[in-house]
Amino acid sequence: MFELRSEAVAPAEIPETLTLRDCPNWGYLLQEFETLYRFGSNGGSKAIRSHRRRVRDTLSAIIDSNPEVITRVPDQKPVTAHLPRAFDLGARNVLGGMSRALERVSDRLTWEYGYDKVPKALARKYGFCHILGPQGPVKSERLILGFVLFAPNTTYPQHSHKDIEESYISVAGAWSENEQAVYAPGSLILNKPGQEHRITTGQVDPCLLAWAWIGPGERLAAPEMKFSKSRKRVEHGI
Ligand SMILES: [Fe+2]
Repeated sequence: MFELRSEAVAPAEIPETLTLRDCPNWGYLLQEFETLYRFGSNGGSKAIRSHRRRVRDTLSAIIDSNPEVITRVPDQKPVTAHLPRAFDLGARNVLGGMSRALERVSDRLTWEYGYDKVPKALARKYGFCHILGPQGPVKSERLILGFVLFAPNTTYPQHSHKDIEESYISVAGAWSENEQAVYAPGSLILNKPGQEHRITTGQVDPCLLAWAWIGPGERLAAPEMKFSKSRKRVEHGI
């Protein structure tokens, strides 16, 4: 006897290629992203308003195209032991809908490191998963959406992203970027291409961030993730 999962269909009806409309829980999660980028505030920043618009317009077009969904092998990392606590915190705050939508697909997430060399201490405290992008699970060459999870008291080393504009939105937990401010759930940080950034998280609870990458398709397919060699002075841009 086998169990049918909530989104499974009878074996005789399983299509050769799954699309987004066959996988409602991936669709609802993307809908949470779309809503977040459509209705969240830009805080008066033209750059953030423009980024939000690019992300949501690209995402709307992707959803309308009913993209392919790839079945990836689920994988965990040591940090995913903190995921249930992140969901508990996430359900209490402004991004509760996003947190619950992610929880619905949590048994299908492929957690990874992305870097060839991950410092040993960081390997126990960090991991990310893709929701949409060139490697799936929802296929897109034009945008990457995912989540990054940090254990309490983590420093994510300085890095930047060539040609890619990145935003992080906190779902659960408190964090800081470049030693500036403390960001609560719902806060958005925009990192322009090449902009150096370093993240630290609160001491007691894990931190779960949603993120979006938008940029040229060839760069999204091969983002060349690496940490900055030396800890250069971080420019804050004003
Ligand atoms: Fe980043």
